[in-house]
Amino acid sequence: MAEQVVLEGLRQRLRGLGVLKGSAPEFDPDAAPADPMTLFGEWISTAIEAGVLEPHAMTLSTVDAQGRPSARVLILKDVDDAGWHFAVNAASRKGRELAGNPYAALTFYWPELVRQVRVTGRVTPDPATVVAADFLDRPLGSREMALTRRQSEPFTDPTEIEEALDKARLELEATPDLVPREWVSYAVAPEEVEFWQGDPQRRHRRLRYEADGAGWFRIRLWP
Ligand SMILES: Cc1cc2nc3c(=O)[nH]c(=O)nc-3n(C[C@H](O)[C@H](O)[C@H](O)COP(=O)(O)O)c2cc1C
Repeated sequence: MAEQVVLEGLRQRLRGLGVLKGSAPEFDPDAAPADPMTLFGEWISTAIEAGVLEPHAMTLSTVDAQGRPSARVLILKDVDDAGWHFAVNAASRKGRELAGNPYAALTFYWPELVRQVRVTGRVTPDPATVVAADFLDRPLGSREMALTRRQSEPFTDPTEIEEALDKARLELEATPDLVPREWVSYAVAPEEVEFWQGDPQRRHRRLRYEADGAGWFRIRLWP
């Protein structure tokens, strides 16, 4: 049972926060480029230049074998013709879900610009060279934690983590360019990409790109 005191009046407090308070840049969907990768490049560049905090953080949604979704925040690694790239531990929950059902959704939200981008599509593994380069570029602590190969497992005793990290440290000292088999990176090959420019008057401008095999359909959506 939740403690009532901290939740008291929450509905009113949430309502009082408001939403869509950022500063929306110009967006003319009729003048948008022919492909969503180019428009994404423009939008994330605007977000970086505007000083949006961690604009490369995105929500990755996956689905398990029973069709139940789960979501978490990850870092975007790159965008190119193969799609939107991210790296995961194959043994983690998301890694297992992607192995069983290779479809994902990515969601970006940049409140300072009142912008949201939604990407959905099939995930395809990146070549081993891309995976290795990404892994070896990570900070030492992140590589050590990956080498514990235990992400998303339940635990009760924190000393287990310290012991596994000590072991990983020794492994890395012996083989500094070690890339664990569990480390994989994927690209979401986009099937749909939606660009959403919010408006406080709720006249949001929405543009969806749909892959048609040869190119892209561009479709305006009601707010
Ligand atoms: C800003 C931010 C960035 C993150 N980046 C990554 C990432 O690039 N890769 C990753 O595996 N987890 C990342 N995480 C942690 C994940 O959100 C998540 O907790 C973890 O991957 C376990 O997810 P799972 O149990 O669903 O597999 C990040 C979390 C935050 C808040």
